[in-house]
Amino acid sequence: MNELKKIAILGSTGSIGKQALDLCRRHPDRYRVTALTARASKETLFEQVREFRPEAAGLTEGIRPEDIPEDLRFCRFLSGKEALHAAAAEVEADMVLVSIVGIAGLSGVMDALEAGRQVLLANKEALVTGGHLVTDLARKKGKPLLPVDSEHSAIFQCLQAAGPNPAERILLTASGGPFRTWDRERILKATPEEALKHPNWNMGAKITIDSASMFNKGLEIMEARWLFDMPEDRIQVVIHPESIVHSGIVFRDGAVLAQLGQPDMRVPIGYAMSFPERLETGVPAPDLFSLGKLTFEQPDEAKFPALRLARASLRAGGAACTVFNGANEAAVAAFLRKEIPFGEIACRVERALEKLAGLKADSIEDIWEADRRSRLVG
Ligand SMILES: NC(=O)c1ccc[n+]([C@@H]2O[C@H](COP(=O)([O-])OP(=O)(O)OC[C@H]3O[C@@H](n4cnc5c(N)ncnc54)[C@H](OP(=O)(O)O)[C@@H]3O)[C@@H](O)[C@H]2O)c1
Repeated sequence: MNELKKIAILGSTGSIGKQALDLCRRHPDRYRVTALTARASKETLFEQVREFRPEAAGLTEGIRPEDIPEDLRFCRFLSGKEALHAAAAEVEADMVLVSIVGIAGLSGVMDALEAGRQVLLANKEALVTGGHLVTDLARKKGKPLLPVDSEHSAIFQCLQAAGPNPAERILLTASGGPFRTWDRERILKATPEEALKHPNWNMGAKITIDSASMFNKGLEIMEARWLFDMPEDRIQVVIHPESIVHSGIVFRDGAVLAQLGQPDMRVPIGYAMSFPERLETGVPAPDLFSLGKLTFEQPDEAKFPALRLARASLRAGGAACTVFNGANEAAVAAFLRKEIPFGEIACRVERALEKLAGLKADSIEDIWEADRRSRLVG
């Protein structure tokens, strides 16, 4: 008989949040959902509350008491920052899945760690912007972060299998996105419709655009640096268009350990939820015979400047990674509103890094300030 675990989900109405709830639905004997939050997706949140009956639920953009349906009055509804704080730190939970998109995830992660909760981390921006603060707190509380991002879950799984043997290098795989085979001129003029067509993964809009520009891989280099305490020059990006090898590690004897699986986030979400065990996820293993072959390529940094900018930001230290992230978030939003061309996203990030070089990131307040300023650079 499995122990019933209480789980709070921050960002339950998003792509990761819904897939985590799918696993909770499959395993009612293992998981009890105690809190759910979203930004503004009221109707979806109401449906989730009706099905999973959490103690608390909230919308960061606010909810009026008169909007709460009669049959959901058993649940405590919260608004604004208080919703995130309550779900992360006040409502009873053994684990908190942070699947919010953007820097908004940072406070949720810090609150959950401060309260001594096990954090399952999908939100990469918390580590990108506040990596040193988050990992210090996790260490202090004796609650190592459990990665949900598929590449980082793969590396984590390989490290578990490696036992005491350290990794010399990380191989961070990337599908290459929808523009991998396009020439540079065509990429610069790509439309939101084209950038939102990811070849392998079905994800939220922001991360899908980031996959097309490879900013997602830049963010993931930063995430890996903090999760695995690995310098950026020992994190190698490998383009792997089939998205079957989710990442790997290299040992000093020349051996490589990698994790394979279908491109389906329920596997890494399930691994974080059930660690150190494994959960039945409903995802079949890849059929190697029908796959036939797997291919690997060097990333093209001339076509995708995000990787170069990400590495430069890590080397610069201070708030450079926060600036990289904030300027990119603002530029992606402008691109989705069709205000700027695709090629302008990287240009804006580069300008923000030049202009705001040297900002510090010693506290959460410094990070918010660097984030705010990075979004203003046009
Ligand atoms: N999707 C994937 O396959 C995948 C894979 C690896 C890593 N990740 C990472 O996981 C995180 C979530 O990605 P996603 O694709 O699931 O995103 P998504 O589908 O856009 O969902 C984001 C969730 O966060 C909520 N949210 C958005 N802005 C917020 C804010 N300012 N404050 C509080 N809540 C907010 C959204 O609520 P509303 O619905 O109300 O807007 C929604 O519940 C990202 O950091 C992403 O990089 C995702």
